[in-house]
Amino acid sequence: MTKKSADDLRSRRWFGSGPKSTEHTAHALQAGYSREEFEGRPMIGIINTWSDMNPCHAHLRERAESVKRGVWQAGGFPVELPAMSLGEGYVKPSSMLYRNFLAMETEELLRCHPIDGVILLGGCDKTTPALLMGAISMDLPTIYCPAGFTMGATFRGERFGSGTGAFRWAPELVAGNLSLDEWQTLEQKIWSSPGTCNVMGTASTMTALAEAMGMSLPGASSVPAMDSRGHQLAAAAGRRVVQMVWDDVKPSDILTDQAIINAARISVALGGSTNAAIHLIALARRAGSAFSLEDFDAIGRQIPVLANVQPSGTYIMHEFSDAGGLPALMTQLSDHLHLDCMTVAGTTLGENIQGARVVDKDVIRSLDNPVATEALAVLKGNLAPNGCVIKPSAASAHLMQHRGRVVIFEDADDLAARIHSPDLEVDENSVLVLRNVGPQGGPGMAENGMIPIPKVLAEKGVRDMVRISDARMSGTSFGTCVLHVSPESWIGGPLALVREGDEIELDVPNRTIHLCVSDGELEARKADWTPRAPHYQRGWGLLFSQNVNQAHEGCDFDILSSRAPTPEPKIHG
Ligand code: FES
Ligand code: MG
Repeated sequence: MTKKSADDLRSRRWFGSGPKSTEHTAHALQAGYSREEFEGRPMIGIINTWSDMNPCHAHLRERAESVKRGVWQAGGFPVELPAMSLGEGYVKPSSMLYRNFLAMETEELLRCHPIDGVILLGGCDKTTPALLMGAISMDLPTIYCPAGFTMGATFRGERFGSGTGAFRWAPELVAGNLSLDEWQTLEQKIWSSPGTCNVMGTASTMTALAEAMGMSLPGASSVPAMDSRGHQLAAAAGRRVVQMVWDDVKPSDILTDQAIINAARISVALGGSTNAAIHLIALARRAGSAFSLEDFDAIGRQIPVLANVQPSGTYIMHEFSDAGGLPALMTQLSDHLHLDCMTVAGTTLGENIQGARVVDKDVIRSLDNPVATEALAVLKGNLAPNGCVIKPSAASAHLMQHRGRVVIFEDADDLAARIHSPDLEVDENSVLVLRNVGPQGGPGMAENGMIPIPKVLAEKGVRDMVRISDARMSGTSFGTCVLHVSPESWIGGPLALVREGDEIELDVPNRTIHLCVSDGELEARKADWTPRAPHYQRGWGLLFSQNVNQAHEGCDFDILSSRAPTPEPKIHG
């Protein structure tokens, strides 16, 4: 049922005001379109994060052509808008420093142009939350189209996943069990084609959450990058978003509290990235939901890990896809999902998974045969009054309750300089602490939370130990890593007050993390503490450090997550 006519289109403000529209009409003609190709048609903006500096998105220019095909077929007018790409590998100090930049860019690209509907092309880690955050705030009809994941590989006869495989073999290189030649062979296999990491890292987690919350077409997040279905789904999204414009279906119609809760439940059932604990809170706040870190912890206790995918499990995304992918996994959880949530397909989540089935019961498990019991736990205590997170499903069971002496690294440089030193005084019971790597301290909260196992211990065969930081870790990482300590050390959080030789007690079953130092001593240390000189005195870095909130709040800017209305641009021409 069509709710809008051509006269109601947002783009009519540019194109439909008689002689005043001349400049806009003439530019469309200049671009080589004839009047019947654009007049009265919804203009569909394709926000494309293709870039030579993001090989995970190398195929997105062709993908955009498939979207355009669909948009034309449905009577729309497609236009491609390039946006900052945030290739996870190259962007320093961390792509997280720029997630809000891309979110802001997405929102403003849509606002300042005559756009009626939106296709978002992303996939590599931060691109997904960033594009969605911007689109949520702009609230035009939107579909998110994921890039798909890179080809699979094996190494020394073992299944080898992006990131996870390299992390698994890195201590062997440090310990001298792997030659440099073999390591270079391995480097070739981490990403063997365009596409995002092929394990349940941040990319696969966030694209799955986009689908779970109803913002992608059904099944889209479980398709490999080089699979022709990617083009078919892109064209289908192009057709569908034109209809969404006429029907006026916006993110605010899709992203209810229940949709966010569905996404959180799926996140833990996937054994998803710890980064979801930041991005989903940021997305929820943009959408006006009060979803919190505590809610995530409660969901983590209720729902076990069903996806047997690295780093929590054995397989990679291709096998997850062949086993039925996300729609099949959702059938296992149907009693725990709000199946009446609407999705961008125009159908409910429940309708979308009708007919889906699990093809391989070892890859997609049932609730009575899970891979692990907990994918995410939120800990609190005097070391992290506002919380921190750990991924038990990718950690060591024997370290879930542990007390040990602290070895401190003051920042990422200090870590790099000393972690493999033969003089490092450390044993396998030590607790490694890395600080000044949070949202402001990093700056940008880089993924150095999976602190390497010191060489002196790696050589003795130690492969895991308790590590604590205010950083994040890659979703492809694993190990007993306590992350996102909030408030961060850079702003004087308790992590800043830890001293060499202190003891820290970790108790995951009871959700506590305790610095074994008296309150009085902590107060005295706090009085002694002085902040470091700021990283930035100008530019984006200064804007970021003045506005970014803490990890438990999603690291968004309050000026962006605010739901206050923003006026439409004045059209003078
Ligand atoms: Fe791009 Fe992992 S590096 S998705
Ligand atoms: Mg990453």
